[in-house]
Amino acid sequence: MLKNKNIIVALTGSIAAYKAAELVRLIKKSEAEVRIIMTDAAKEFITPITMQALSGNPIHSNLLDMEAEAAMGHIELAKWADAIVVSPCSANTLAKISQGLGSDLLTAVILASEAKVFLAPAMNQQMWNAQITQENVVRASSLGHKILGPGEGEQACGDIGSGRMLEPEEIFAALEAFSLSLLEGKKVLITAGPTQEPIDPVRYLSNHSSGKMGYALAEAAEAAGASVTLVSGPVNLRASSSIEVIDVVTAKDMFAEVKRSIEAADIFIGCAAVADYSPVNTHSQKIKKNLNENLLLELEPNPDILKFVSENYSNKTIIGFSAETENVEDFAREKLVAKNLDFIVANDVSRNDIAFNAAENEVLIISKDKTKALAKASKILVAHQILNYIHQDSLLH
Ligand code: PMT
Repeated sequence: MLKNKNIIVALTGSIAAYKAAELVRLIKKSEAEVRIIMTDAAKEFITPITMQALSGNPIHSNLLDMEAEAAMGHIELAKWADAIVVSPCSANTLAKISQGLGSDLLTAVILASEAKVFLAPAMNQQMWNAQITQENVVRASSLGHKILGPGEGEQACGDIGSGRMLEPEEIFAALEAFSLSLLEGKKVLITAGPTQEPIDPVRYLSNHSSGKMGYALAEAAEAAGASVTLVSGPVNLRASSSIEVIDVVTAKDMFAEVKRSIEAADIFIGCAAVADYSPVNTHSQKIKKNLNENLLLELEPNPDILKFVSENYSNKTIIGFSAETENVEDFAREKLVAKNLDFIVANDVSRNDIAFNAAENEVLIISKDKTKALAKASKILVAHQILNYIHQDSLLH
């Protein structure tokens, strides 16, 4: 809940401006106070009257406006806010914020405010991938601003790629996590992605994990106030700069890094799809093909990282994941017991619309005495819900 919080929702020029209307509705519903800032470009996409009606307050637009300064000028607005969410955040405004400009009301308020700033980028995929935009993202993150998304998919211009603004519910979940700060002061260690077990210099054994679920958990935990370390197999994702990412390739590397970081952690989440086996011998040169005979690979079991953590660190909250293609709940519960976990999150990896490499997930959170089903939703929303549920269940040691 955002009850009694003061939130500025700032809109810039993007086709995604219409989504800000729903965001404001969600914030108002949670009994927070909302003020709206609109840039001139934003007004080309959604009318100020709509935003005014939804927020219940006059719209703020001009930096140099005698009337506005007499009522609630930029310094008052800056001091009033507990959080500022720029949604949508255009490439232009992102650039201004990252460079510390205060050339319009929005950027001046951000400069003058101590409130937490959330930026929800929305732009064409080429603009998002432009080197200068990526540099601006890194700079804005290093200033302590939280970058929310963007998501991937089809864009208004017809392109497909990264740059879609997150959905209002996803932005709201980040605001709520920040406001509740349920994991304030906690250290969370998360594994994510696949591992790759080399056969020779050009081939390896692996699986379909993209890392999206683990990275979403890392972002959600960080938004909830935790300090997060993410031990990640090879993936094509980037975490917020405030998250410590340790890149690994094999299960043995992942095990070594978890052993190195677990002591300091309060909570361990094993979301990685760790290969259960690796080749006994890794050939130093490429294996030559011989189509006249079969090639036999001898495999040996990898260390079970999750089991190691639960056997040696029972004072920590330990959460596993379970990937199954049948008897999803029963098999997950067996792992919960066998590995002595506080929770296991089960997903059905036989489905194409969730789990491996999908944008969404649908999970069961299983503890010793109950099972909680979460409806299908984006991985970031599922991640927030998992952390909220686990906290509510008050098993955090
Ligand atoms: O990465 P995405 O594309 O977003 O997909 C998400 C996911 C499907 C990978 C994720 O939601 C998930 O289910 N992760 C667990 C995958 C898995 O390896 O499940 P498992 O049932 O085989 O393993 C059970 C648990 O033991 C897991 O927490 C796993 O991290 C852990 N384990 C397994 C083997 C091993 N050697 N060491 C381990 O720590």
